[in-house]
Amino acid sequence: MPSVSNSNLSKDLAIKIEDLSISYKINVESKKTLKNAIMRASRGERVRTRTVEAVKHLNLEITHGSVVGIVGANGAGKSTLMRSIAGILPPTSGKITVNGRISTLLALGVGFNKALSGRDNIILGGLAAGMSKAEIEAQTDAIAAFADLPEGFIDMPVRTYSNGMYSRVAFAVAVNMTPDILLLDEALSAGDAAFKEKSFNRMRELCEEARTILIVSHALSSINELCDHAIWMHKGNMLASGEPEKITGAYLKFLNVGELPSSYEDL
Ligand SMILES: Nc1ncnc2c1ncn2[C@@H]1O[C@H](COP(=O)(O)OP(=O)(O)OP(=O)(O)O)[C@@H](O)[C@H]1O
Ligand SMILES: [Mg+2]
Repeated sequence: MPSVSNSNLSKDLAIKIEDLSISYKINVESKKTLKNAIMRASRGERVRTRTVEAVKHLNLEITHGSVVGIVGANGAGKSTLMRSIAGILPPTSGKITVNGRISTLLALGVGFNKALSGRDNIILGGLAAGMSKAEIEAQTDAIAAFADLPEGFIDMPVRTYSNGMYSRVAFAVAVNMTPDILLLDEALSAGDAAFKEKSFNRMRELCEEARTILIVSHALSSINELCDHAIWMHKGNMLASGEPEKITGAYLKFLNVGELPSSYEDL
């Protein structure tokens, strides 16, 4: 059974996306100065905006327990899609239904409060992921141990961390919160070589635990190894969906020779 399908089954679904479109409105005024604002007002103009359609009419169904990789060029709409599934970004039109508790690692440590310690951020992360205080307390030490920071750092404000240390805590929080649904956007590239290996192994464990996982990554070999399904996003559209190796192979061909498949069947 394909893990991503277009059928109408409902209770097995972790995520259902129907005709989802997301646009950003960008203010194109070159300089935001008072003078410009007054000039514009005197001409009766409003702020000029440009609309970027980051995700266009996307339909996707993800069953519980599937591990889905999302590939695509920079600006294809992958992070936008992830943010909307996480509930951070409301759809411009269409509908997203999520069935389960989500833990996200969208951009590393987004949502962390830099004035608080690593430990306090772990607690906040847990609350945000819908865990109870008791569940979080039971996990805090394990998470701190996974992040494996230098002596004492876990109780220091996060602003005193190096980038790598920050990423380690963020990754540790996301993968140890026992979420039903885990969203990882470029998280596998966190930390140094040793930590990368540790995160990859943890990812493999999670994949085997039958959790629903969405992974955005430019590391195509990781997608092939971890995922049981992949989708290719291109300029806001879902260009293809299928076996990871087929999808990453076609995407790689596109990256190398600029060739897009003319239809799904070409893959
Ligand atoms: N906050 C924002 N405001 C305005 N436009 C945005 C914003 N975030 C993304 N965009 C635009 O939306 C489109 C999709 O961006 P998105 O970040 O989803 O791409 P991506 O596939 O994640 O790319 P990457 O591989 O570089 O991470 C791009 O054209 C981008 O410029
Ligand atoms: Mg992105």
